[in-house]
Amino acid sequence: MKIAPDLFDSFPVIETERCRLRQVKDEDSKTLFEILSDYETMRYFGIKLATDSVEVSKSIEMRKKGFTEKRGIGWIIADKQTDKMLGLINFPFWLRQFFISRLSYILHKDNWGKGYMNEVLPICLKFGFEKMALHRIEAVIDPGNIASLKLVEKIGFKRECLMLEQGYDFIQKKFNDTYLYCLLKRYMN
Ligand SMILES: CC(C)(COP(=O)(O)OP(=O)(O)OC[C@H]1O[C@@H](n2cnc3c(N)ncnc32)[C@H](O)[C@@H]1OP(=O)(O)O)[C@@H](O)C(=O)NCCC(=O)NCCS
Repeated sequence: MKIAPDLFDSFPVIETERCRLRQVKDEDSKTLFEILSDYETMRYFGIKLATDSVEVSKSIEMRKKGFTEKRGIGWIIADKQTDKMLGLINFPFWLRQFFISRLSYILHKDNWGKGYMNEVLPICLKFGFEKMALHRIEAVIDPGNIASLKLVEKIGFKRECLMLEQGYDFIQKKFNDTYLYCLLKRYMN
């Protein structure tokens, strides 16, 4: 298993029926702020909500650097016709020597319930297995996040365990148990 030698030559833009998966750009800052500052959207992520545009600019820079410094791939999901940002998908915590990565995904709440994640996620997973030489992709999901549980189960992820007090909720100020899910490359065959 080898990482594609051209993985970081140019940002891997991927098109689906309705979406374009592309590199982040400064024009995404408004939508990104709406996502990162919204409790309903971010409640299961264990990170503090964004409170100003400076934090969003930092997040955009970090995402760009992540690619240029060859640390990982994070896509913006955009509408194919208008190029407006709809959400994002990342492979955080890529342990390339172990062929493992976590997966994280968020849609702006205006776009929930429209099947976008179901459309794009399998293509990103295929990319992870084929181009990033992943063997195992993990998702950590709060038991209350029904939409996310249903999404990964439909795609074929298996629930492995309940991780005790794994996730921290900065608003409620408490630790929550979370499910660990995994998708192995061979499940996709
Ligand atoms: C997780 C997320 C990406 C899913 O978005 P989506 O693709 O629009 O999901 P949907 O609204 O279509 O819901 C997926 C499924 O769960 C079902 N569902 C959603 N909310 C539900 C609820 N409260 N109770 C029961 N079922 C529910 C939907 O009916 C759908 O089922 P179906 O596929 O059988 O039709 C989106 O909710 C999101 O961005 N959430 C905030 C960020 C987040 O939590 N990310 C995941 C972190 S692990």
